[in-house]
Amino acid sequence: MGTERMGRVCVVGASGKLGRYMVRHALDRGYEVVGVCRERSVPKLAAFADRITVVPGPTNDREVIRRAVAGCDGVLTVLVPWGVRQYSSGTAQAVLDHADPGARVVFSCGWHITRDGQDRYTRRFRAVLRVATWLGRLVRAVEIDDQVEACRRIFASDRRWTVVRGSDLEEGESQGLPVWSRHVGDPVLASNLTRRVDFALFMVEALTDDTLVHEAPAIVGRLSPSALAHADGGREGS
Ligand SMILES: NC(=O)c1ccc[n+]([C@@H]2O[C@H](COP(=O)([O-])OP(=O)(O)OC[C@H]3O[C@@H](n4cnc5c(N)ncnc54)[C@H](OP(=O)(O)O)[C@@H]3O)[C@@H](O)[C@H]2O)c1
Repeated sequence: MGTERMGRVCVVGASGKLGRYMVRHALDRGYEVVGVCRERSVPKLAAFADRITVVPGPTNDREVIRRAVAGCDGVLTVLVPWGVRQYSSGTAQAVLDHADPGARVVFSCGWHITRDGQDRYTRRFRAVLRVATWLGRLVRAVEIDDQVEACRRIFASDRRWTVVRGSDLEEGESQGLPVWSRHVGDPVLASNLTRRVDFALFMVEALTDDTLVHEAPAIVGRLSPSALAHADGGREGS
């Protein structure tokens, strides 16, 4: 699909940090933008108020998503594990069910998601994930298993999906499009750090990059030491 066909784009979870960067990148490309966010977070989109359409509501509300994605050529979804009410899987399912046929659907998550079980995690990464999963369940605030379930459903879908797996994130000026690899553990990803603004850039670029259809790229900042050291081992984002 070429840029010229990406007229209207929906950002699901538009009010968060990643979401707002994606809104900005999409506007920069001249796309018409529809943003979905919780009612109480609408003011966080004030800077874009006269440039985007906002559909307020929970992102796992099927009716909210149905209205928001209608007529969109692309849907960018921030998958977050918050709450204990299947927020992630409910959001993913609503997008998979209601996006227009042929629309590009791009989802965000972290390296902990594995598509084929071939990712190689450090002991530290696994320990941190175990603690976060356990603690999240204990305080009933985070449901990492549900983000895993959301991605399982996406991987099983015949939609034109991409699941972008983010490394640890930092704020800062853009360094350009991150590089990616199919498996965590590949040397090019070792630095495990990406600027959040560039994570968003990768998501928006993926909309028009057919080589990323049915891929789950794990990304890392293009100027990170591992990306520079293994420039040939990583892939360009587009
Ligand atoms: N943080 C990291 O280091 C990291 C690392 C790798 C990958 N990722 C991935 O990057 C993406 C963005 O994550 P982020 O950490 O950078 O956060 P973010 O961009 O600030 O986004 C957080 C999102 O979660 C929503 N949210 C917050 N609390 C919520 C609740 N209780 N119920 C429902 N929604 C709630 C926010 O909506 P409101 O605006 O309405 O609050 C916002 O849309 C995610 O897909 C994450 O898996 C993050």
